[in-house]
Amino acid sequence: TMQRRHASRQRFATEFSQCLFDFVVQLLPTQEELAVKEDVRKLLERLIRTIEPDSRLLSFGSTANGFSLKNSDMDLCCLIDSEDRLSATDMVTMLGDLLERETKFHVKPLPHARIPIVKLSLDPSPGLPLGIACDIGFENRLALENTRLLMCYAMIDPTRVRTMVLFLKVWCKRRKINSPYKGTLSSYGYVLLVLYFLIHVKNPPVLPNLQQIPPLRPISHEETHLNGHDIWFFDDIQLLRQRWQSSNTQNVADLLIDLFKYYSRDFPYQTGVASIKSGQLKKESKGWQSDLDSPRYNDHRERNRFCIEDPFETDFNVARCVTKDGLYTIRGEFMRASRILANRPERAIIALAQLCE
Ligand code: GTP
Ligand code: MG
Repeated sequence: TMQRRHASRQRFATEFSQCLFDFVVQLLPTQEELAVKEDVRKLLERLIRTIEPDSRLLSFGSTANGFSLKNSDMDLCCLIDSEDRLSATDMVTMLGDLLERETKFHVKPLPHARIPIVKLSLDPSPGLPLGIACDIGFENRLALENTRLLMCYAMIDPTRVRTMVLFLKVWCKRRKINSPYKGTLSSYGYVLLVLYFLIHVKNPPVLPNLQQIPPLRPISHEETHLNGHDIWFFDDIQLLRQRWQSSNTQNVADLLIDLFKYYSRDFPYQTGVASIKSGQLKKESKGWQSDLDSPRYNDHRERNRFCIEDPFETDFNVARCVTKDGLYTIRGEFMRASRILANRPERAIIALAQLCE
């Protein structure tokens, strides 16, 4: 019976892996969508240059890191190369006015937000059946770097890493646990959870730790630091692919089954911090412990229910918005997914449909 169970698990995993690839491929943005988005970026860049001639508008987040689904929003970052540039607040106000006058976008400038941005959207049209949503921020160089880090991880093992990340993104949207404003986790947070699992939990690891591979030649402090944060990571992916090969040969389905299991029962939510840079850390050692019995620290403790360290801003908890209820729901969803996959329904496609119900 042991052998038979093993064979049945293998059969399921092979079929389920294929289902996952097929499912994820359909969800990728079309060439046309990518082209439209690039046109929008160029148009916006041209307009911004009428305010600040030395500015560049760069794309970050999913449109730039290889983990984008159809109709994902565009995250844009404006960099200004001149010395005496306008403040982000002024730029947001001026750009908001300009876009309102010159374009058909719905414009919502948020000059006084913690990170000032302009929010834009375009209504659906025949060429753009689902419209477009876009945020423009300023000088967010760390976001550009973490986008590049995620992109490098996606490139090391495109099939397994991208399939897992994209699937997890769809899954968390369908299961409605992807709303930082409502106490659950951002997409960025889920991507970090997948990478953490592939770098630090899996043994042998599926991915190397790019932030711990030393540079080939000595490089200066200035080159590796940005606003006091160490942003070094090994980014010569071609070289890496020649010299490094994971000895983990599990297929996507097996990895996903293990990931759901890990986050439903093994990750130490109470005391642990998931750090893709340093592996598992203790909340205590980062000063992130949640003093659950003391009502005085109410605010602080809500901030650190669930801890995911940002790869560069290491004093920043990417999961700070997750509330007690939010975490309960998220863990419940990991358990539900785990249960569905442990049951191994007759057809893998049924499992997939149930997962994303
Ligand atoms: P979708 O928009 O759902 O496709 O996902 P996404 O990959 O674009 O992720 P998300 O919109 O959550 O974040 C976009 C980018 O913003 C990320 O790649 C990060 O660069 C940055 N970002 C988002 N949330 C945080 C955060 O909490 N901290 C930091 N430092 N950066 C963040
Ligand atoms: Mg995004």
